Amino acid sequence: MKGIILAGGHGTRLYPMTVALSKQLMPVYDKPMIYYPLSILLLAGIKDILVISTPEDTCVYDKLLGDGKRIGISISYKIQDTPRGLADAFILGADFIGDDSVCLILGDNIFYGQNMTGILNNAIEKLDGATIFGYPVKNPTAFGVVEFDKDNNVISIEEKPEKPKSNFVVPGLYFYDNNVVEIAKNVKPSARGEIEITAVNNEYLGKGKLKVSLLGRGIAWLDTGTPQGLLKAAEYVEAVQARQGFYISCIEEIAYRRGFITAEQLLALGQELHTTDYGKYIISIAEEALEE
Ligand code: G1P
Repeated sequence: MKGIILAGGHGTRLYPMTVALSKQLMPVYDKPMIYYPLSILLLAGIKDILVISTPEDTCVYDKLLGDGKRIGISISYKIQDTPRGLADAFILGADFIGDDSVCLILGDNIFYGQNMTGILNNAIEKLDGATIFGYPVKNPTAFGVVEFDKDNNVISIEEKPEKPKSNFVVPGLYFYDNNVVEIAKNVKPSARGEIEITAVNNEYLGKGKLKVSLLGRGIAWLDTGTPQGLLKAAEYVEAVQARQGFYISCIEEIAYRRGFITAEQLLALGQELHTTDYGKYIISIAEEALEE
């Protein structure tokens, strides 16, 4: 399975912070936002990743993440000239996807919680068409909303409805079989002029090939779209890390634990960052592993 991180858009709701800097580079406490979705792909065991961003920002992501070799994976880049909608990721990424299946994660989506790896593995192993997720939120109107019938079967997904038919919304993490490329190419732009991921999902639903897996309250899906959301996400990360001593979305640690790099390589990565708590954390994981 391939992985795509969509890190485009203008991030207007974070202006002036994002006038000159891409939204997905904003710090979420101690690391750039894109580390969080990247870590989800790593947890899913996905090692071949495409980052899609704007003409101005793609080179900055390249500077940050490079070709991925240092954490034992492959990262490539694709420019999106204009933000045409989320489903455009599959058109821009068609060559990269080839005849594989693909996981799309939005560059501003942060997931954290117990058994995230199990949830991801399950989605990949049982993939038959498309698997997306449903997550309860208090205010669903800003999202794709899942509509259920009285037996809890999914009837439709509505994009940003004024009158949401449930409080379950679709977070920015999607698994698709290879048909997604053709489906995306045939999606007509919506009223807001975008080729919507919701249209792709409804296409799978119509074919009986959409699975909506509900995420429970044990999983945090954090919003980073506004200054307040960004601050709250940062506070969440700081609180968990300070309390437990375990880091959230430390890509080097995950790469080591998934077997993408050795403990020696991990130690070297930590030493590059030794002046920070983040680097010291990596060094401590590596030293512990080397002592065993
Ligand atoms: C997009 C999708 C929406 C989804 C949301 C998750 O919204 O269109 O269905 O619920 O991401 O973050 P957008 O970011 O385009 O407003």
